[in-house]
Amino acid sequence: MSSQNKSTFGDRLNEWKLFLWNSNKNEFLGRGGKSWALITIFYVIFYAFLAALFCITMWVMLQTISEAKPRYQDRVSSPGVMIRPRGFSQSKGIEVTVDPKKNATVMKYMSMVNEFFSRYQKEQHDVKDCKDGEYRKRLKEDAEMPACSFNLSLLGDCADPEREYRNGTPCVYIKMNKIIGFIPGNGTHSPQVSCEGHKGADIGPVSYFPSNKKLDIKYFPYFGSKYDRHYLQPVVAVRFENLPLNQKSAVECRVTGASIKIDENRDKYLGRVIFRLQRID
Ligand SMILES: *[C@@H]1O[C@H](CO)[C@@H](O)[C@H](O)[C@H]1NC(C)=O
Ligand SMILES: *[C@@H]1O[C@H](CO)[C@@H](O)[C@H](O)[C@H]1NC(C)=O
Ligand SMILES: *[C@@H]1O[C@H](CO)[C@@H](O)[C@H](O)[C@H]1NC(C)=O
Repeated sequence: MSSQNKSTFGDRLNEWKLFLWNSNKNEFLGRGGKSWALITIFYVIFYAFLAALFCITMWVMLQTISEAKPRYQDRVSSPGVMIRPRGFSQSKGIEVTVDPKKNATVMKYMSMVNEFFSRYQKEQHDVKDCKDGEYRKRLKEDAEMPACSFNLSLLGDCADPEREYRNGTPCVYIKMNKIIGFIPGNGTHSPQVSCEGHKGADIGPVSYFPSNKKLDIKYFPYFGSKYDRHYLQPVVAVRFENLPLNQKSAVECRVTGASIKIDENRDKYLGRVIFRLQRID
């Protein structure tokens, strides 16, 4: 039985060799030279055609995309509101834990705030002081815009987040998401931030920095990443002076002003932000 197997294996090997290279018929893998040439030409043309089709499609797409303005803008042209620092879990939403005795927790939040602050602290070349209460104006079409300066000293005590956090009076920083061309306010009145306990939750007293609570209209509109590379968003800091201890308090901060929509029922982040704060003793 074993000898029979061996001869079968030898036969197979010879068949394979013949298939690989048949010197009688001059065939490689069962095909002659002419057949190989034809099949090669076919595939070269086929793939060249596919590549050309891909390139043409991309080219046509790129022609329709403008770098400055999205062509297909979301129908919702009212901005969402977001906070820093922001601890986030998919199931629980935004949560910030204030635990002054745990240095690791303090450091974690401080690194988030410092990252957020770094944009405002950079050596600012293309920044100018803009006049309060006036919209930004484009000086030239197709030219880069200088950013309007936002000096972190406007945030008062909250410009030093670590001190406040260690005191158990954490600061939370509120901003609106950037939307190209969005113009809030009504020309004279800037949007304002206000925070309360969500659905009557007790959050204790709060203070605002700057105290006028304004996101000044001089920072609007935003012209997009091509023309507004140095853009700085206005921020309002909210300090929680006496959070109830050892419980999660739901906070709702709203940005109110002309043309800012708030969806009371469905969207937690449109025109407002809802998050939970917990101060641990
Ligand atoms: C907290 O930890 C950082 C390093 O992560 C350290 O530099 C700092 O001194 C610590 N602060 C306190 C109060 O322990
Ligand atoms: C911010 O304001 C402070 C005092 O008001 C000033 O000393 C500082 O130079 C300003 N920073 C910038 C970047 O303008
Ligand atoms: C803008 O809104 C404020 C109230 O929010 C109002 O007092 C003011 O008259 C409005 N201005 C214009 C130009 O509509």
